[in-house]
Amino acid sequence: MTRISYDDICAWLREDDPDRLASLWERADTVRRETVGDAVHLRGLLEISNHCCRMCTYCGLRAGNRKLRRYRMDEGEIMSSVFNALMAGYGTVVLQAGEDYGIEGLWLADIVRRIKSETPLAVTLSMGERPQKDLVLWRDAGADRYLLRFETSDPVLYPLIHPSAPDRHQHRVDIVRQLKQIGYETGSGIMIGIPGQGYESLARDIHLFEALDLDMIGVGPYIPHPDTPMGRNELKKLPAAEQVPNTELMTYKVIALTRMVCPEANIPATTALATVNRTEGIKTGLRRGANIVMPNLTPVQYRSLYEIYPEKGCIEGPSGASGVIDPRSLYNLYQRLHDIGRTVGDGQGNRRRG
Ligand code: 5AD
Repeated sequence: MTRISYDDICAWLREDDPDRLASLWERADTVRRETVGDAVHLRGLLEISNHCCRMCTYCGLRAGNRKLRRYRMDEGEIMSSVFNALMAGYGTVVLQAGEDYGIEGLWLADIVRRIKSETPLAVTLSMGERPQKDLVLWRDAGADRYLLRFETSDPVLYPLIHPSAPDRHQHRVDIVRQLKQIGYETGSGIMIGIPGQGYESLARDIHLFEALDLDMIGVGPYIPHPDTPMGRNELKKLPAAEQVPNTELMTYKVIALTRMVCPEANIPATTALATVNRTEGIKTGLRRGANIVMPNLTPVQYRSLYEIYPEKGCIEGPSGASGVIDPRSLYNLYQRLHDIGRTVGDGQGNRRRG
């Protein structure tokens, strides 16, 4: 099994030689093929609410952003989108929202139970830092997985980008550990190139993925949103030699290194990557360590409102304007995977072990 040290991670993050980088992509792609194989699992992403009570300094959904029109999908809308995921042949539906307490624990538990009893889909939740009782309730209702990126583990940077809620001071890394204990397949991840993020700090994050033994790891470049403090450049950058750039290339390095430290993890080529390179981002991510794609299932009237950053691209899911499946976009996705020698995974695409 490939093992890679903290020092190696630091060195790779600063590597700029194209030939050496080509050998990194090659190693990551080999590890990917030998562990999780050629099947790309599709997870339908459904953004069920853009309300958020938190004040994260990077995110367009932050409570302080008064410009954003807010929405919350109702049960009927959620269920019809879930059936779109099923008809498109996906194995998983991901329900994501801001940290929205208008989404009550019991209400979402009922929806999870419905999805689990009416479909064969795996259910992934990405609902922010909810209290333990909600996390347990949803797990008991049948939710399989939970995603919560810790964004950065840097003790100086973390509070600057992620102010705590008034009554809660738990670090997301601790919540990630708690999610594993509750019994979720657990995903986390980071943003790349946050102002103030240095190379050693990023290397420690990647190293932490391994220590946490994560099942899923999502990483993407930080993309400035003008209606946020970070997007208005209120956070100090490090001197150029220290500051991690929020580039496409740096994202590929992190994906490749993540595959080497966590060979069996499910690693998506993320929407943020598709945003910085609309035509090649997903494909290239999949060739440099990633094995998951998350097509967007959100009904089109809500899509532009889930604006965590501007010009958010999406991997076109099957729901057209009317919520009806567009077979052409699905065929197009299959074709793109086929072009790079990959197949579409069947089943739920659970984390593989051993
Ligand atoms: N740029 C890039 N990624 C962002 N996210 C939130 N805001 C931004 C941004 N401005 C990411 C965070 C979050 C995920 C859902 O989206 O990592 O966990």
